[in-house]
Amino acid sequence: MSDYVQAGAPYLTEEGLLARTGGRELKRVVFSAQDIERRVREMASEITGYYASDDDVLILGLLKGSFIFLSDLVRHIDRPLHVDFIVASSYGAGTTSSGDVKLLYDPTAPIEGRHIILVEDIVDSGNTINRLTRALESRLPASIELCALLHKHIAQDLVLQPRWLGFDAPTEFLVGYGLDHAEDFRHLPFVASI
Ligand code: IMP
Ligand code: MG
Repeated sequence: MSDYVQAGAPYLTEEGLLARTGGRELKRVVFSAQDIERRVREMASEITGYYASDDDVLILGLLKGSFIFLSDLVRHIDRPLHVDFIVASSYGAGTTSSGDVKLLYDPTAPIEGRHIILVEDIVDSGNTINRLTRALESRLPASIELCALLHKHIAQDLVLQPRWLGFDAPTEFLVGYGLDHAEDFRHLPFVASI
């Protein structure tokens, strides 16, 4: 447990971690809170520099997994933008992608003519991104780019490669910083494997 406390977040005590996980075992910290914070700031400044100052940028976060990443990211982007969300579901309660991606919430923001940044917690099979990219392209945005915190690099035929990527991820099941296992662990301040 103690390496989680140190590598994950200096303010998290062993009791704090126990309280957050209900005593459930994590395997190891894969990306610490400090590593994530540093990388998210870098990505935000890359995004800031990428667009023209008058581009109409719409950040579309894929819920629920991207909620922490997105909220940290947008606070470090120094340019005008708007935020909306998409809800797609592919996993259910398991740890392997079902391949059956359901669109549960469609953004109300108009897409046509705008510069879209899709924000995803992790690219795994790529099914979600492939399906969403096709759906969004039919609405004629000015551009679509993908910003992902993590990428397992196992996706075949990914139609949209991340322009901004936080980290290459191991092919393990990861939780924390928004990522869940059966809705548990999203609130951990670091990414761990289980
Ligand atoms: P894909 O459609 O297989 O690329 O899966 C994408 C979605 O599955 C992500 O947005 C995550 O919500 C979820 N996912 C994929 N891998 C993991 C993981 O290791 N831990 C938690 N969620 C994951
Ligand atoms: Mg998920």
